[in-house]
Amino acid sequence: MAQPVELLALAVSVARSASDLANRMRAEGVSGVTTKSTATDVVTAADRAVERHVREELARARPGDAVLGEEYGADRDAPVRWILDPIDGTVNYLYDLPQYAVSLAAEVGGVVVAGVVRNAATGREWTAVRGGGAFAGQRRLAVSGETDLGQALVGTGFGYAAERRLHQARVLAGLIGHIRDIRRFGAASIDLCLVAEGSLDAYYEKGLNAWDHAAGGLVAAEAGALVTGLDGAPPGPDMVVAAPPALHTQLHDRLSALGAAGGP
Ligand code: IPD
Repeated sequence: MAQPVELLALAVSVARSASDLANRMRAEGVSGVTTKSTATDVVTAADRAVERHVREELARARPGDAVLGEEYGADRDAPVRWILDPIDGTVNYLYDLPQYAVSLAAEVGGVVVAGVVRNAATGREWTAVRGGGAFAGQRRLAVSGETDLGQALVGTGFGYAAERRLHQARVLAGLIGHIRDIRRFGAASIDLCLVAEGSLDAYYEKGLNAWDHAAGGLVAAEAGALVTGLDGAPPGPDMVVAAPPALHTQLHDRLSALGAAGGP
């Protein structure tokens, strides 16, 4: 069985070539744009090509591992499973906004042990190995020291279905008067890494899939964030809350009181 550091090394190398492919395809003009769950949930030829590339590279290096990817789903059961968002922030990719990432995590026995998030547009890269800290290049990351929710800059995101968005907007309306401000950058994996480096004090979102938060969640946790769901639940589709411990309690309790994990 490979060690987490070896899995991370492979993840980083694959994420880099995957980012190059995404950028080359972006430079040629975005093509093959279609929609998925709703009319605003877009997918491009690049999302699919990058996922195929990553699957090929992983299969070459470690045949037999499982992959769960946003565009092609799950393949098999295996002790090591890779969790991939080939382009997190597809809408940003479409609009050429430099905030989209390849997000790749390695899970062993159901536990995420290594992860990389690479902003393909800027080349910024965040990595973590469970128990080994979180890094941006050689720089070890630490969450912000903010302890007052009223002074916290909070990231979030919205789903693609109208009913879900309405629910998320109501929750945001209940939160916005109790925080410094809100940011919506459009790539959950990067948002979690911004929490890790203290550029956001906290982040929350309902409706994320594992490929959106597996790698970034590990980076945030290894930088000192608590990464959970609400009311004792693990991070998952109902809610992901990431924040330094003192802030986490306040944000968690307010989101819980607002019924943020419920609804569509
Ligand atoms: C989306 C982004 C966005 C978040 C959405 C995700 P995608 O992922 O991470 O920031 O708000 O919930 O679905 O569709 O660009 O891979």
